[in-house]
Amino acid sequence: MKEDRFVVTPWEVSGKVDYNKLIKEFGIQPLSEPLIGRLKKHTKDLHYLIRRNIIFAHRDFDWLLNEYEKGNKFYLYTGRGPSGHTHLGHLTPWIFTKWLQDKFDVKLLFQITDDEKFLFKENLSVEDVKKFAYENILDIIAVGFDPKKTKIFLDTEYSKTLYPQAIRVAKHITFSTTKAVFGFKNESNVGQIFFTSIQAVPAFLESVFQGKNVPCLIPLGVDQDPHFRVARDVLPKLGYYKPAVLHSKLTPGLIGGGKMSASDPSSTIFTTDSPEVVEKKIKNAFTGQQATAELQRKLGGNPDICSVCQYYYYFFEQDDRKVKEIFDAERSGKLLAGEHKEDLAERAIKFIEEHQKKREKARDQIDKFILRD
Ligand code: TRP
Repeated sequence: MKEDRFVVTPWEVSGKVDYNKLIKEFGIQPLSEPLIGRLKKHTKDLHYLIRRNIIFAHRDFDWLLNEYEKGNKFYLYTGRGPSGHTHLGHLTPWIFTKWLQDKFDVKLLFQITDDEKFLFKENLSVEDVKKFAYENILDIIAVGFDPKKTKIFLDTEYSKTLYPQAIRVAKHITFSTTKAVFGFKNESNVGQIFFTSIQAVPAFLESVFQGKNVPCLIPLGVDQDPHFRVARDVLPKLGYYKPAVLHSKLTPGLIGGGKMSASDPSSTIFTTDSPEVVEKKIKNAFTGQQATAELQRKLGGNPDICSVCQYYYYFFEQDDRKVKEIFDAERSGKLLAGEHKEDLAERAIKFIEEHQKKREKARDQIDKFILRD
């Protein structure tokens, strides 16, 4: 693949993503300073993911704030495709979603698309995706969502509610639209072609529940945007609002380039990894430092390509001043790879251990969160 080539679809992310290009290709709006200012009026402070432009684009977020300011409260909707264990990259948009829930005191619908992962992953059975769904739900609960305001459901288990709504959406989506948006072929299985209709439902489900239109805000990794591009065309035809969307960048992997990907375990820290495994993965991380310590001290490194630096930036260090110190130390050559990695490993292990405790506690909270019909 040429250096400047990258692919971002709901089922494939590869290459070095150029987010400015993506904004144009997807037809989404950059998150502007004035809009961030409007958000801050309501939230008082700004989440580090906003401050660092990791949440970088939107659809109709200005409209959503207009409605909110008129007293028309929104709800949140996000989701997870249970193709394996949760990794740190998955947690980022969830942590941001929890922040929004706390700041605006709003309800959250959390969709688990076990159907999707069964249909799209060659080697996963119906049993596999269900098992991962319940494993992933532990991580979702561990993020700290409010059980009174958060409802989680599996597509295959909540189908009595979802299916009658999904067919209303499906009737407005043609095969040629799904081909154009997702690149499906005549050989694609028919479940895949139908799937967007299911992912669209939670974007208006609260309106169905309440019997009146309720604005919806969807925080997501930008790879999921195409589903909602389609949904936003269809929903007004059914009499609902178009959902607003906030897009986040994809957390980079540990071995440089691309995003953290579950299909490449060495580039990825799973929430279920043992401290030893976390340490080993970080030891093998790509730093982009010079060939020898001597050269590194003399020439310095590049924090923009150093995955250890990027991990602090995306995940582990919320204090902007400290991030700057770490980046400066990398750039000046003061910080050598070994020490750099040891510091990060310590941080990561502490995080994972705490998360795993919360994850265990979540086991007997599942019933409080799950929607069944
Ligand atoms: N398809 C998503 C995935 O593979 C899961 C998902 C369902 C989702 N609904 C969503 C993600 C809404 C973001 C927002 O992970």
